[in-house]
Amino acid sequence: MKIGVLTGGGDCPGLNAVIRAVVRKSDAHSSRVVGLRNGWKGLMDPSPMDLDSRMVSGILHIGGTIIGTSRTNPFKDPAGAEKALKNFKLLGLEALVAIGGEDTLGVAAKLYDKGLPVVGIPKTIDNDLYGTDFTFGFDTAVSIATDAIDRIHTTAESHNRVMVVEVMGRHAGWIATYAGIAGGADVILIPEIPIDLDEVCDLILRRHSRGKSFSIVVVAEGAQFAEKPGMNGELILQEMQKDEFGHVRLGGISQVLSKAIEKRTRFETRYVVLGHIQRGGSPTAHDRVLATRYGIYATEMVHRGEFGKMAALQGSRITAVPLSEATSKLKTVDMEIYGIAKEFFG
Ligand code: F6P
Repeated sequence: MKIGVLTGGGDCPGLNAVIRAVVRKSDAHSSRVVGLRNGWKGLMDPSPMDLDSRMVSGILHIGGTIIGTSRTNPFKDPAGAEKALKNFKLLGLEALVAIGGEDTLGVAAKLYDKGLPVVGIPKTIDNDLYGTDFTFGFDTAVSIATDAIDRIHTTAESHNRVMVVEVMGRHAGWIATYAGIAGGADVILIPEIPIDLDEVCDLILRRHSRGKSFSIVVVAEGAQFAEKPGMNGELILQEMQKDEFGHVRLGGISQVLSKAIEKRTRFETRYVVLGHIQRGGSPTAHDRVLATRYGIYATEMVHRGEFGKMAALQGSRITAVPLSEATSKLKTVDMEIYGIAKEFFG
């Protein structure tokens, strides 16, 4: 069997671990694997890359993706889907493993409906993909953000400052919540709950009235202010221009927030944007294991002919869920976990 594999959307640590697992398991089935470069672009404008055991040797611990990624959306072009299906046939492929988040797997779901034999693997540092308890990449991002918060703690304390730490999380505040809990944040702000500036400042003032001289605020990039003049429910953007899936480029809420906090509380405030550091470098052991399990399971799905589904983690087991279900909505932060974070606010 000849199997194509592609990685789409934002990269994340663990992609190479999945590719390695898919190739090794396919080898055991005497199947061949080719990498389609740069996400769905690899089916629109193919320049495939043969992947054998030798090619994937030594990549388990390496961040990024050896086959490249992009935010290409074949459905942007009215003839795009047909072109992708045609190229799939021309390449002599019999199955495709698509590794991605809501956008990449949304395309996979639509192409499956048009006849593409595809299996999905859930990837995103944001952990907002429905149908799976965890995506790989998330644990690494949380570890990096937690380490950053630990470091920010010491400088915040030395200078008696409020520090606002901005983490990734476009639609969901999973990284903010987990890294905030792990790093002992005093306030955590997420896209799921509009920011009440009065409440944030009250929490900081309360903490400082208890004798603390510094505070750590963790904010997800996609969080929005509620009912504040000039800030009503608006996302803070770096650029208005949208990508092929209609997403604007977020970033900068920590700057706006830190100014507002300093003005109201009169505490010296600084901000830091962690940005793509959260997506780079080596995956944690947890993500290497999860990515490997997904890769092996998805390859088994391919050889069973179980297409139109995504490998998913439910509890401690890997299972298969329909792509249509996984991409039907986003998985927002569990309010029970956020409630635990809130116990430590202020
Ligand atoms: O992949 C998800 C994500 O990391 C989001 O958290 C973030 O908003 C976005 O990607 C950034 O995308 P880009 O790499 O295109 O700047």
